[in-house]
Amino acid sequence: MKLTLNGKINRTYVQSLCMMFFHGEKFPENEENPAKFLTVNTYDTEEGIECECTLEAFGKKAKANGFAKFIEGEKYERTSKSAVGMAVYNAGVELTGKEIPWGILTGIRPSKVAYEQICRYGEAEAKVNLKERYFLSENKADLAIQVAKNEGEILKLSDNSNCSLYISIPFCPSRCNYCSFISYATPKLFELVPAYIDKLTSEIASTLKSIKEQRLKLLTVYIGGGTPTVLNENQLEAVLKAVYDNTDVNELLEFTLEGGRPDTITEGKLSIAKRYGVNRISVNPQTLNDDVLKFIGRRHTVSDFLEAYERVRKSEIKFVNTDLIAGLENDSFDSFKATVDRIISLHPDNITVHSFSVKKSAQILRDNEDIYNKSDDYAIKSVDYAYKTLIANGYEPYYMYRQKNTVCDLENVGYAKKGTFGIYNVLMMSDCHTVYGVGAGSTTKIVKNIDGKLEINRIFSKKYPYEYLQDE
Ligand SMILES: C[S@@+](CC[C@H](N)C(=O)[O-])C[C@H]1O[C@@H](n2cnc3c(N)ncnc32)[C@H](O)[C@@H]1O
Ligand code: SF4
Repeated sequence: MKLTLNGKINRTYVQSLCMMFFHGEKFPENEENPAKFLTVNTYDTEEGIECECTLEAFGKKAKANGFAKFIEGEKYERTSKSAVGMAVYNAGVELTGKEIPWGILTGIRPSKVAYEQICRYGEAEAKVNLKERYFLSENKADLAIQVAKNEGEILKLSDNSNCSLYISIPFCPSRCNYCSFISYATPKLFELVPAYIDKLTSEIASTLKSIKEQRLKLLTVYIGGGTPTVLNENQLEAVLKAVYDNTDVNELLEFTLEGGRPDTITEGKLSIAKRYGVNRISVNPQTLNDDVLKFIGRRHTVSDFLEAYERVRKSEIKFVNTDLIAGLENDSFDSFKATVDRIISLHPDNITVHSFSVKKSAQILRDNEDIYNKSDDYAIKSVDYAYKTLIANGYEPYYMYRQKNTVCDLENVGYAKKGTFGIYNVLMMSDCHTVYGVGAGSTTKIVKNIDGKLEINRIFSKKYPYEYLQDE
């Protein structure tokens, strides 16, 4: 697509607006014979920013205007984005006829905008603004506000005197074809696991000692992946023991083991996890449709999941999460609806509903480059169904994020029964909590609140296990 922008306009923002209508669109500077054109002009008036835009594609042309008032305390760029967003959104909807549930909200967490709006105008006006200024649908405005309120409560736990720990286990039993996480899944690469565990456990010990020396209180520990339960019992015990020996696990608000793949969760591993203080675990079906599981290369069946779920419940680890994915290419609304209904009947404490995201490095994209152009509108219906049904069954949305290249630009939402919210998930996403990361691919984020101003410092570990092992 050829973009012509006149005025103080953020090019990346315009590109992300265009991608809401044309998934996978590219914007080369010197494209010969472009098939789509967008011209955007902005100019300042005394009261705000005016925007005019013209969009041409598929032999059709749509023109639209936008206007955003200057608001005291709001940066020029934010006002400009509102005016440009309004114009491009209206032109895009007119030309393509697409439904865009999140309106012009891109590149920022919806709950962050909702929170700012609530603080500034109160809940009722915040909802009106989300719908009228950002074009959110009724459901999404409600969702953003509910998440903002729940996140706000959890964020009150964090201050300069506390922190969390993330432990990375980037190994998996096999590779799912939609996934882009850095994770080793072949027998050859698995040979690195013993050396990896040796180095990881000493890093866990030294990090926890440093946390103690700094007199920081450790609020949560999260062991994530990959698939941490792919480790054998001895290896898993070594990791858990490194935590147990170097901090008082009874003092933690939350100790999570992201199991994930049902085919790796055994009674023995669960009893070790329970013994060392784990109080939250994930066992993830993604879908309860065997054909879809096969299609996404998950290498387990629905009955494997149900058996693993049973084992997890018997282990008496307090909180259980299950991850689902909506909008998978060969799934359907009826099948996703059946998955949601069946999962609810199992009463997990948390249900996380992801929307299918087409990752650049995922096998599914290599197998089918056209996947961007599939019509995925059933995904909108699916996540709306999950939202309404989960709320009707006593779950509340408490954390949410959006990713690029997700079907219909939908969201990922963590739902939980009251009193079972996953604390780490909210803290790590905010910019106000210090998280120490250990292991390959982890990030340490140190946050300091200096006279009300947040200073954030990020330190990245080596991405791949073999680099991590070579690192001094
Ligand atoms: C760290 S990942 C994997 C956890 C665990 N290894 C598993 O597969 O069960 C956490 C979750 O992200 C979601 N996820 C991963 N790739 C995704 C994609 N391309 N689109 C949507 N959700 C995705 C899945 O629901 C997955 O359970
Ligand atoms: S979805 Fe989970 S199990 Fe599958 S490859 Fe990704 S991290 Fe591994």
